[in-house]
Amino acid sequence: MKLIIVNDLKAVGLRGAELVAEEIRKNQNLVLGLATGGTMIPFYKSLVNLFRKKNLSFLKVRSFNLDEYVGLNGKDKRSFRYFMDKNFFSKVDISKRNIHFLDGNAKNLYTECKNYENEIGELGGIDLQILGIGKDGHIGFNEPGSDFNSRTREVLLRETTRRNNAKFFSGKEEKVPKKALTMGIATIMSARKIILLASGKSKSDAIAGALNGEISEKAPASVLMRHRDVAFIIDKNAAAKLRK
Ligand code: F6R
Repeated sequence: MKLIIVNDLKAVGLRGAELVAEEIRKNQNLVLGLATGGTMIPFYKSLVNLFRKKNLSFLKVRSFNLDEYVGLNGKDKRSFRYFMDKNFFSKVDISKRNIHFLDGNAKNLYTECKNYENEIGELGGIDLQILGIGKDGHIGFNEPGSDFNSRTREVLLRETTRRNNAKFFSGKEEKVPKKALTMGIATIMSARKIILLASGKSKSDAIAGALNGEISEKAPASVLMRHRDVAFIIDKNAAAKLRK
């Protein structure tokens, strides 16, 4: 495990983007797993800057996002698909047909999840997975208690997660969907390389739990300690509770 501690959220995003750029320069056909959420906004800003200023191209990159809310379609402003279009896809040269997304409005959610796993497999698996972390230690939408063997599936969101994400629903927790589709823990662990980004005091318990705690399904991110190529890029506040 590699631990990189930087000053603030902006620096987390920049460092993360630089590492992604390095991987794309080594392999322009990279299969890239992506995340959404507040932590990711400066990260996507930095990637867009690298695209504009440093000729970084996403033309041949294939992307798979981690998760999506059940019941929202991709045009809904609160969907993760919309978030990605707005903050990243519309601003770089990624080809539309290379973007893979879970459809939270699919008729058969079980088949939707199975197909997603198959699509990942058909492209040879994920080369690099980007992750955020929830205050409760979730990765993707794998909440505490998620089976380490889980694959892409429908899940129930916890109250803490819905409260955190209310910021994307005009501050109204009751408007945050109760269910989501998410890549599973085993899906995430199958990625060849993983980079987790975290910022702020509110994430310090989750970070300490992942890095210093017991590896347990109670702390989903702790499973990453079993991965052979994982980097945590976090700011000082998120690192505040790590054992010295
Ligand atoms: C979203 C995702 C989640 C977020 C996490 C942190 O695609 O996978 O695990 O990364 O909930 O969200 P923020 O950054 O908003 O605190």
